[in-house]
Amino acid sequence: MHKTVLGVAATVAMTVSSVASAATVSIACGSVGQEFEVCKQGAETWAKQNGHTIRMVSVPADANEQLTFFQQLLSANSADLDVVRIDVIWTGMLAQHLVDLKPHVPDDELGKFFKPLVANNTVEGKLVALPWFTDAGILYYRKDLLEKYKQQVPTTWQELATVAKTVTDGERKAGNAKIQGFVFQAKAAESLTCNALEWIDSFGGGTIVDETGKVTVNNPKAVEALTFFSSLIGNVAPKGVLNYSEEESRGVFQSGQAVFMRNWPYAWALANAKDSPVKDKVGVAALPKGGAEGKHTGTLGGWQLSVSKYSKNQEAAIALTKYLTSAEEQKRRALVASFNPTRPDLYQDAEVLKTNPFFASLQTTFTQAVARPSKATRGKYSKMSSEFRNSVHATLSGRGSAADNLKSLEGKLNRLSGKGKW
Ligand code: GLC
Repeated sequence: MHKTVLGVAATVAMTVSSVASAATVSIACGSVGQEFEVCKQGAETWAKQNGHTIRMVSVPADANEQLTFFQQLLSANSADLDVVRIDVIWTGMLAQHLVDLKPHVPDDELGKFFKPLVANNTVEGKLVALPWFTDAGILYYRKDLLEKYKQQVPTTWQELATVAKTVTDGERKAGNAKIQGFVFQAKAAESLTCNALEWIDSFGGGTIVDETGKVTVNNPKAVEALTFFSSLIGNVAPKGVLNYSEEESRGVFQSGQAVFMRNWPYAWALANAKDSPVKDKVGVAALPKGGAEGKHTGTLGGWQLSVSKYSKNQEAAIALTKYLTSAEEQKRRALVASFNPTRPDLYQDAEVLKTNPFFASLQTTFTQAVARPSKATRGKYSKMSSEFRNSVHATLSGRGSAADNLKSLEGKLNRLSGKGKW
């Protein structure tokens, strides 16, 4: 009898203690392509193993709208977000609201991530986020169509325009009326900032604002780049690109209606999915150079996981962040959704490379990707980026020449920054 009572008491105590430590952890991950689903699977696997529950927080697909949403919640010290997925350009802007993860990640473990990403996520000595996946803009092309018309993969943007024209002319003659030459992201959103930085830098026109904060965007190479890309609209590229983000361009390319697409690596797994009309017909290359003297430029993108300072479940949130950025989980994500790992070791993994051969063939695209000037422009990055993309969007839409629009953009950015002081 005595023994039974003790036994019951012990069971009750155990149940109470596990209930007390069980948490409902909310996580805001992305929603582009398969991101939401793949994040949910990872988070729920962790929750199940550890007796916790996950609450998925929906966020807008557009990166800039997401930033506004997070800024509102975090500025209100809201406990509604525990784990927050943040863009590579936001670490400085959101640092004040994020937990320092340094005391929770041993140095040898931190050393297993790409160093530049750890440096990017370290703000005033605090590790405000762990790198989750990295990316850069790449060129997708239709292997079958290039072969059919005996065309090479273009190495300059000018060649891309010529090849696209040859293939689309041939296809249209053969009755394929819907085929487009090149799709990319020219909606006035953060994705256009990424695309246009690639164009300008590939022509040798720099990075909008340089590392010292000087506004450099108004230069002859940038004018040449934007004039060239404006000439593609309604010609090599459908007018619709002016309203395309990542998913709209992927929709067109994946349904077989474009020869070329600029996008991030996530589109690889989807383009090769079982039900994809272009499965096994797609090749991937570095984005073309802006002429023979230009360079291959991909804009650095990517996402980090951070923990809100206002979270009431910090311990569990930190554990979830560590799990999701672990080698095991990053490998799973690379295999199912072609998310580029943030750990160099995984680029030596045979399975990962077999599923994503471009992780190896485009190594320099990823390691030498060009960063947006978020460090130099600090808290004013968003405003700078929106002035930049609006100016580019106007030029692409035929509202003003590249030369006039860049001159006026230069004035606006100089005023915004206080003559480059930011
Ligand atoms: C991708 C990139 C991110 C970028 C965004 C723009 O998600 O990883 O860095 O800001 O696209 O749409």
